[in-house]
Amino acid sequence: MQLELFVTFLFIQNQVLVATASSSSEEDEDDDKGSSHEHHWGYDDQEGWSSTFQDCRGQSQSPIDIETGKAIYDPSLPHIELEGFDLTGSSALKLQNNGHTLKLSLPSTMRIVKGFDQVYLASQLHFHWGTVAVPGSEHTINNVHFPAEIHVVHYNSKYTNISEAASKRDGLAVLGGFIGIGLHENENYEKILSALKDVSIEASDTDIPGFNVRHLLPNNLEKFYRYQGSLTTPPCFQTVHWTMFNETIMVSRKQLAALEDSLKAGHQLLSKNFRVAQLLHGRRVLASFTSSPSVNKDLSEIKPTFAPIEGQMSRGDMLSIALGALFILTLLAFSVYVYQQRKTYSRSKKHSRENVIYKPATKDDV
Ligand SMILES: *[C@@H]1O[C@H](CO)[C@@H](O)[C@H](O)[C@H]1NC(C)=O
Ligand SMILES: *[C@@H]1O[C@H](CO)[C@@H](O)[C@H](O)[C@H]1NC(C)=O
Ligand SMILES: [Zn+2]
Repeated sequence: MQLELFVTFLFIQNQVLVATASSSSEEDEDDDKGSSHEHHWGYDDQEGWSSTFQDCRGQSQSPIDIETGKAIYDPSLPHIELEGFDLTGSSALKLQNNGHTLKLSLPSTMRIVKGFDQVYLASQLHFHWGTVAVPGSEHTINNVHFPAEIHVVHYNSKYTNISEAASKRDGLAVLGGFIGIGLHENENYEKILSALKDVSIEASDTDIPGFNVRHLLPNNLEKFYRYQGSLTTPPCFQTVHWTMFNETIMVSRKQLAALEDSLKAGHQLLSKNFRVAQLLHGRRVLASFTSSPSVNKDLSEIKPTFAPIEGQMSRGDMLSIALGALFILTLLAFSVYVYQQRKTYSRSKKHSRENVIYKPATKDDV
């Protein structure tokens, strides 16, 4: 019983630490609303971005490498629920080559209704890719790139529009998916990719018929990673709730090649439009799923009375418990040691020569 009290105490202490850490890491808002004059930036000079856009050298930048073994399973992460994503039969959508990416404008009737504290409204989706030889996803999994990545950008419905939301701490939510190569043509992606030839020139655009945008995302939206990050392009505002889905979206080799080879930025091929992974600087990556579900089960079998806590057991909690147990073991070992020392002391009064054996270690031994 006392052990449990102690462990509970450690747990509470841990939670307090977590709370303090997260509140102190809130970004100060940088209220220069992006200077009106256009700055030219490119992917060849990523280190140079921060000289013009100071947020790009912040401590909560994106993309990041997601180390699957270090992601913290958080069963309290709410599932994502989308509404209005089926645009079949509704008005046409503007597809654009803006020189940095292939971008599809989205209506604000598309929204994330569950998953965050507020409703987030869609604004646009776009892609990042490489070449045949260089896989070009922005986020990496255990330092490995995927061939391409899709970003569906949303803004908090409490703001008037995306430009107002973009600089606000809780302004943006991006749903990201890894794109891999499969055997079959992805007919949903073809709705966009078949129009690539119409936007090959930088700053050109075309209209494509509405379709079900939900089908561009993985089937399984329940498994995802969540972390706090930034825009991956200047001005790099650190205002994005990132969601990266665990399930990979598959397109055919031919479809991927079309994305890699069709668009131009100026006279050059528009490709390798991905930013390198940024440092975490102490940020946590949460996971809505666990790859080892047995861990929680085992704990509940050992400690059935722990039900209220076990439900949200995170790595930190388990560490607290382990440390608590370690502390108690040390205490026990120390008690045994003291007890034996005492016995020895009383004996050594009779046999004074034995004293030598129990002399404490000197500094030279350390
Ligand atoms: C966004 O909203 C702000 C504030 O309401 C307004 O000043 C601005 O013109 C809007 N921008 C666009 C692009 O609609
Ligand atoms: C999905 O999760 C599994 C289990 O953790 C992991 O091995 C795999 O690399 C993940 N893939 C992606 C794309 O997140
Ligand atoms: Zn992006």
